[in-house]
Amino acid sequence: MAPIYWYQDRWLPAEEVRISPDDRGYYFGDGVYEVFRVYGGALFEADAHLARLQASADGIRIRLPHDLETLKSRLEELVRRNGLQEGTVYLQVTRGTAPRAHLFPPAAEPVTLAYCTEVKRPLAAMQAGCAAVTAEDIRWLHCNYKTLNLLANVLAKQDAADRGAADAILHRGGIVTESSASNVMIVSDGKLVTHPANNLILHGITRAVVLRLAHASAIPVEERPFTLAELRAADEAFLTGTTIEILPVISVDGSPVGAGKPGPVTRQLQEQFERAILF
Ligand code: PDD
Repeated sequence: MAPIYWYQDRWLPAEEVRISPDDRGYYFGDGVYEVFRVYGGALFEADAHLARLQASADGIRIRLPHDLETLKSRLEELVRRNGLQEGTVYLQVTRGTAPRAHLFPPAAEPVTLAYCTEVKRPLAAMQAGCAAVTAEDIRWLHCNYKTLNLLANVLAKQDAADRGAADAILHRGGIVTESSASNVMIVSDGKLVTHPANNLILHGITRAVVLRLAHASAIPVEERPFTLAELRAADEAFLTGTTIEILPVISVDGSPVGAGKPGPVTRQLQEQFERAILF
């Protein structure tokens, strides 16, 4: 069955979606997006994703063309129409279509697109862990907005792959922020440490779920800046994100993290996460 896209509030087969070359998303990256997880045919943490979409849109002064309840019901319908059980939903809203000029076009209406993709849970990677490298975080100072401008993230991820690693852990002057497409947590002296949810990181939905799970099982949590030296000396480290869930980091820049294999706190959180998504 050909995938059905939701585009400008219409249901269309993928090949019938026509994006204008004048779409500001295309030449300015002028838009916001979300990636939702679908487990068992249901959107996971939909309200949290939609609230973040609203915050991102407000942050870059885009007026969402639908209220969040309408958006949610359209995305649920998208999942139903495509018969998706396990995968992701991608949703993006650009500022609209107008001849190229930096100023906001007064008449442009936002352009909305959503589609879903079958994506299996990365069980093997979650079991084995991954290698990461470190890189300077060269992004702008509104990383809490999930915008289409991902060039620095793309370059960091590609550079990591070229160096044989799964991801790049980013730092600003030695303070670890997040990775190219996920949040970063370390376990040090039994405490779970992660960068505070401020303007320097995306406020990850998976991050929030993991922190809730840690609180629920009385793992001490510190949301504070931590250094590259702390990352290197950590007992455990892992990445969190919608598609990767909780991905252990077993080496950083070629040196093992802790015992060089996924650690017990990471494992425990993975098990709790598993229970949370299976409802
Ligand atoms: N990325 N940090 C960045 C820079 C991200 O791009 C993402 C998600 C996260 C994790 O957020 P969440 O737990 O809400 O997925 C953190 C998505 C999946 C992407 O761009 O594909």
